[in-house]
Amino acid sequence: MDTSLLHREVVPFILITLALVVATLAGDYALHALDLVWVGRWLGIPGTLLILLSFGYSMRKRKLIRSGNPRTLLTLHETFTLLGAAMVLIHAGVHFNAILPWLALVAMLLNVASGLVGKFLLDRSRRHVAARRQHYSLKGMSKAETERELFWDAVTFELMAKWRALHFPITLVFVVLSLGHILSIFLFWNWR
Ligand code: HEM
Repeated sequence: MDTSLLHREVVPFILITLALVVATLAGDYALHALDLVWVGRWLGIPGTLLILLSFGYSMRKRKLIRSGNPRTLLTLHETFTLLGAAMVLIHAGVHFNAILPWLALVAMLLNVASGLVGKFLLDRSRRHVAARRQHYSLKGMSKAETERELFWDAVTFELMAKWRALHFPITLVFVVLSLGHILSIFLFWNWR
């Protein structure tokens, strides 16, 4: 295997996935050891809120909001979804009551995995379009303008478009299943 692929993509992918697993197991263990299992039951709420907040990037991209640096918002998207996913995983680890929440969990994990693939594809396409930097500066664009153009170039790279065709529907399935789970909780509220 190409060593740069191994170092730049495969190893970080495995490390981030492992970090998520370790954070989940450690969190779950700590809650049990401290007799705070009930906290896990509520962790689904901040986890979901973090994931919702992470959609700021998508809203910025789709011009539903106009302010905020896209690159920073994407980093926040990645960080918040990973943190939120860890919280939701700890929350889910508490009990098995119904099938729907577990389907939502599987969809979330698929979302996280596809998000990670997208992250590394984006890094790759960023390197690919770096050559265009010169082109833009030759056109006399300012440094800030050039950086912004290059960011969107990387995002619209063909491979990214193909990947998005997967990440988006997975998100939709995840959102629908989560909504189903949340609605059923409100319908059958009995948190003891
Ligand atoms: C609960 C988990 C996740 C959900 C629901 C989610 C959802 C989304 C959505 C809806 C978009 C599309 C933005 C748009 O085009 O409007 C997106 C893009 C993206 N996500 Fe995620 N994501 C999740 C996890 C992750 C993770 C864990 C990472 C990486 C660490 C990640 C990295 C990315 C990247 C790189 C983009 C592409 C930027 C672009 O195409 O403009 N995502 N995500």
